[in-house]
Amino acid sequence: MEQATANSPAGAFPIERVREQFPLLAREIGGAPVAYLDSGASSQRVLASIEAVDDYERRHHSNVHRGSHTLSAEATEAYEGARNIVAGHIGAADRREVLFVRNATEALNLVARAWGDANVGAGDRIVLTEMEHHSNIVPWQQLAERVGAEIDWAPIDDDGVLDLDALRALLERGPKLLAVAHVSNVLGTENPLAEISAMAHDAGAIVVADGAQAAPKTALDVAALGVDFYAITGHKLYGPTGIGTLWGKLDLLRAMPPFLGGGSMIRKVTREGTTYADVPARFEAGTPAIAQAIGMGAAFEWLDTELGMEAVRDHERAMADYTLEKLADVPGLKVFGPPRGPERLGPVSFEIDGIHAHDVSEILDRHGIAVRAGHHCAQVLMDRLGITATARASFGVYTTTEEIDRLVDGLEDARRVFGL
Ligand code: ALA
Repeated sequence: MEQATANSPAGAFPIERVREQFPLLAREIGGAPVAYLDSGASSQRVLASIEAVDDYERRHHSNVHRGSHTLSAEATEAYEGARNIVAGHIGAADRREVLFVRNATEALNLVARAWGDANVGAGDRIVLTEMEHHSNIVPWQQLAERVGAEIDWAPIDDDGVLDLDALRALLERGPKLLAVAHVSNVLGTENPLAEISAMAHDAGAIVVADGAQAAPKTALDVAALGVDFYAITGHKLYGPTGIGTLWGKLDLLRAMPPFLGGGSMIRKVTREGTTYADVPARFEAGTPAIAQAIGMGAAFEWLDTELGMEAVRDHERAMADYTLEKLADVPGLKVFGPPRGPERLGPVSFEIDGIHAHDVSEILDRHGIAVRAGHHCAQVLMDRLGITATARASFGVYTTTEEIDRLVDGLEDARRVFGL
């Protein structure tokens, strides 16, 4: 690790060296260097990932698992190598537990279709929380409609913290499944997954965790978290779009029927019918996103070897804390989500009295500052909070306190523009 730098409150975080690894950060927008505070929507790409994809495309591309020629063997080795990296990064006990899918949304849909259709029936209950992203709501609503199941909503308190007593009461009704975000994409709340998993398992429910926001911020050990399925996406983890991972317990995955049918996922096809391959192939029908998987693996390897996820988590917390502290001084600004604390990560969502979130975002853009505005694919949460939209600053390993200072200055400008 290199020495501390001035704009890293975490102290030892090598922020300048990190930023050099992200070519896009050299862009200017509105005459100013881009301050990219929208990593919760999609992070920027690390050079190691860009270069791994480029090298693969230029020198090794072929289809995987299909040929005995040199290029196919090289492509297969790189693709399966990426699976090993992902398995190591998340603490999977067995590399076959790592399925490559398009994104976290597809991962959650896969569980709803393959596990849900086989295990959830008429009158069964499914528990969701009020802070879920639409990708962890809609697949379960579709499942409930298909099979005639009922959905219960675990409430949050006014700070955006899950009410564990209320969750326990819902679990006493004997649901088949609890689907829960590890970290909220709006509130920055980190849910105590290990405790929640133990509660759900005691009640006989399996736990499906949406890790899309948590995985970029914290070290993962799926065994210690105690969940049954965990969904992540590569494009929020400094890798390409179009690639994600569903991790599942091996016995559960093996007992699940396939989701999509086609090439690669079969053992034998005859006129009479088909028998299926073992996992992970059973759930990877068709030619997969080979380059993207390799790019995701390269990004994870960079995180693990150059930074370590403990340092990444410390940096995330430092950025969230700094933002919360600075935003407290902006008149008329209200932050949603828990106050500063050991489990409070980013993002930081807020509203300013008298200025719509989209106007906030547009004025910030004039200063080269990128934030997301809107309902953040969390309309149930918006309804619970009694609002329709927030502006949201979300962080990455390249985020600096200077960028957050620019955010605060930009918000002052927005207040001036609106005569506040
Ligand atoms: N799920 C992403 C977000 O929250 C797109 O911004």
